[in-house]
Amino acid sequence: MFMDDMRCTTQETLTLQNVRRFVVGAEEPVQLLNGSRRTYINFDNAASTPVLLPVLQRIGAFMPFYASVGRGSGYKSHLSTEEFEAARVTIGAFVGARPHSHVVIFGKNTTEAINKLAHRFPFEPGDVVLTSLMEHHSNDLPWRKAAEVQFIGIHEDGSLDLEHLKRLLEDNGGRVKLVAVTGASNVTGIVNPLRDISRIVHDAGARLAVDAAQLAPHRAVDVGAADDPERIDFLTYTGHKMYAPFGIGALIALKDSLRNDEPDVVGGGTVDFVTETKTYWSGLPYREEAGTPNVVGAIAWAEAIRCMQDIGMEDIAAHESQLAAYFLRAINGLEPVHTFGLIDPQKASDYLGVMTFGIADTPHKLVSAILGYEGGIGVRSGLFCAHPYLLRLQNIDPSSQDRIASEIKDKGVSALPGLVRASFGIYNTEDEIDRFVDALKLIIEGKTYGSYARDPQSGDYAPIGFVWPKLGADIPPQPGC
Ligand SMILES: Cc1ncc(COP(=O)(O)O)c(C=O)c1O
Repeated sequence: MFMDDMRCTTQETLTLQNVRRFVVGAEEPVQLLNGSRRTYINFDNAASTPVLLPVLQRIGAFMPFYASVGRGSGYKSHLSTEEFEAARVTIGAFVGARPHSHVVIFGKNTTEAINKLAHRFPFEPGDVVLTSLMEHHSNDLPWRKAAEVQFIGIHEDGSLDLEHLKRLLEDNGGRVKLVAVTGASNVTGIVNPLRDISRIVHDAGARLAVDAAQLAPHRAVDVGAADDPERIDFLTYTGHKMYAPFGIGALIALKDSLRNDEPDVVGGGTVDFVTETKTYWSGLPYREEAGTPNVVGAIAWAEAIRCMQDIGMEDIAAHESQLAAYFLRAINGLEPVHTFGLIDPQKASDYLGVMTFGIADTPHKLVSAILGYEGGIGVRSGLFCAHPYLLRLQNIDPSSQDRIASEIKDKGVSALPGLVRASFGIYNTEDEIDRFVDALKLIIEGKTYGSYARDPQSGDYAPIGFVWPKLGADIPPQPGC
């Protein structure tokens, strides 16, 4: 299948109109609970996107020349190193990194990149980090380990409370060294006003770190020049949310803003010279990239970036917002569906295509199970690694939170509350949303056909007696494209 795809792909330029043909697996049928098959709908793009065919082709073209990166001799090593470093430049430039002032440090995903920053920011005792209540855990927990953390509050609609940010900066009287916020929420799709935030943060003498895991795949981002008062000092993002799922992420940082001493992870590649008693650390970025790097992942990610640039970030943003508005209009009048984040379709362009909702008393995990087993639709349900945010959005008070925490001891995570999330990508269509909304209507009207059992520990629902087919057992080989 992979080789067929490679042979039949043309050099056609990617556009929003033709991109679906270049998304690997976009038309893949999957088996449903009743034995029939339907084309799978992937509405979990906020977690990970599928891969673009030109990305696979690029890897296919590179692999015969793949060899050791950095320290090998010979043509293949030379080429691999050159490709790897060129990818670094592309991945930095996509978010506006300036080669003279910024460094791109690779890791395996956004989480690792944020942890890297938390370890390598020059904190001193007593320093405070401000993060917010709308963060993914990956932009919250690393800070709790690194410094004293205080949380910027949110408004009732889930947006960031900038007045609270200002108050926290003022009240801490210069102790806040870093403000770490998300570029956009993985729950509500709210896009934060980064320029305003940046001004506020820099006026107070602190640095700004932006978790762009969600933002960068959907909006143009520019970290700005080193002396720009609206700059982003640190930015983290990843390939697997932008059509290059090969285990790579990056921290983009101003060169002079990281610690200049022993790195948090040490080993091969981080040093210039080692004696029995002394270690001489390499310069950036190599000091911070211990071990053999993910050269294939970097090349794949750079290719995905080129594809997205071909399509155009403005077109991508407009398309995904349009899908969000379309979804909202389609569920208009479905009383039991309660959405969070975007509620007015007219304002869709202010949000990512991330729709989070609940259906009255129907358990979120049952909704997602029925969508999967009976509709062939993949979504996400639960708390989306943003527990404090969900607790606020759902008005779950501290005593209920304590009750949930104690219930977890007996009942496992099945005790957790949650919602359902559908998140759109460049290749999703209004027809898919129609099918999705039809499936939601069947759930609301009680017209689904499966008998589901709930796992008492995980809270997951699965149809009794049904097992998904293993890879290769379900789908007969597809003809070439
Ligand atoms: C806003 C946000 N930040 C961070 C992460 C973690 O990203 P990664 O899986 O690349 O570590 C995610 C993942 O969903 C996210 O949505």
